Amino acid sequence: MTETPWHHRHILSLRDFSLADYATVTQTAVSFRDVLSRRTKKVPTLQGRVVTTLFFEPSTRTRSSFELAAKRLSADVLNFAPGSSSLTKGETILDTAKTYLAMGAEIMIVRHRETGVPQAIAAELDRMGAGVGVLNAGDGQHEHPSQALLDLLTLCTVLNPDKPSIEALRGKKIAIVGDILHSRVARSNLWSLTACGASVHLAGPPTLLPLNFAEGFRNSPIPGSAEPRAIAQHDTLEPALADADFVMTLRLQHERMTQHLLPSLREYHQRFGITRDRLTACRSSVKILHPAPVNRGVELSSDLMDDPSLSLISQQVTSGVAVRMALLYLIGTRSRDAALLNA
Ligand code: CP
Repeated sequence: MTETPWHHRHILSLRDFSLADYATVTQTAVSFRDVLSRRTKKVPTLQGRVVTTLFFEPSTRTRSSFELAAKRLSADVLNFAPGSSSLTKGETILDTAKTYLAMGAEIMIVRHRETGVPQAIAAELDRMGAGVGVLNAGDGQHEHPSQALLDLLTLCTVLNPDKPSIEALRGKKIAIVGDILHSRVARSNLWSLTACGASVHLAGPPTLLPLNFAEGFRNSPIPGSAEPRAIAQHDTLEPALADADFVMTLRLQHERMTQHLLPSLREYHQRFGITRDRLTACRSSVKILHPAPVNRGVELSSDLMDDPSLSLISQQVTSGVAVRMALLYLIGTRSRDAALLNA
């Protein structure tokens, strides 16, 4: 396993991730991917440690793969279900987190529909000196770090299946298409892909990709590097798809839309839906990513979604378990070291 220094107690955003951090996560995940291909898929790394999943918003992939990842590392996992919890009796989110802390939780994985909830929990636990690591599993439209990191492993694996590494991404063109305004996945991917030297082309209708959206990302330096982040944005699909190596299409997030932002789903599909015909503008080796869940026939045609020669959606889900094992290992090892130092 990697001996590279790891400085993050929490993983709340990828904005402050350096190239070395992406390399560490990717290489650690590759090691765990090898573990997962063995007959015995379990290692004792987090034996006796308690991991809690605090999901205040629905999830299939993220919650289940964090749970599986924690179990593969031999941790004890406590799953929290808001609808049947004491939240319904008025308990606050911070008091819920403190309740799990009192049961011995050392890692908390948090999803909430409001931006900033994982950060607020992490700040309160730090204030208490708890030594708990908090992983952001998606906060509002802000960030979804583990999704971008599993996307990174998936891309690196396609580019070099025998020895996936982030260096392979340098100079690649990646189109991110659709509802960028509401997408925490797009934001986390913007940090990771540009830090690794890829050129990101955003495309969407102006209601879902506001003018100057990319500006804040372009102006934010890559930690430990003087290189600029390569980002372009377009209000039509064609320039984003031209010669693209990968196309990442995003779900229309109706649950986050407070007003009518699209004339109709049919028109959206005509202008921004990814279809086989449209892919002819890309490189012949192009592959499609989607964080899922997918609105079939809206952002992506159903036949493309089901074509394993073009769609990486299943590989993304598979990468998710190895990447989340890597994150739990890195955070878990760090929090244990910190606890020993404080003892
Ligand atoms: N991609 C993703 O976050 O999926 P879930 O909402 O199912 O976790």
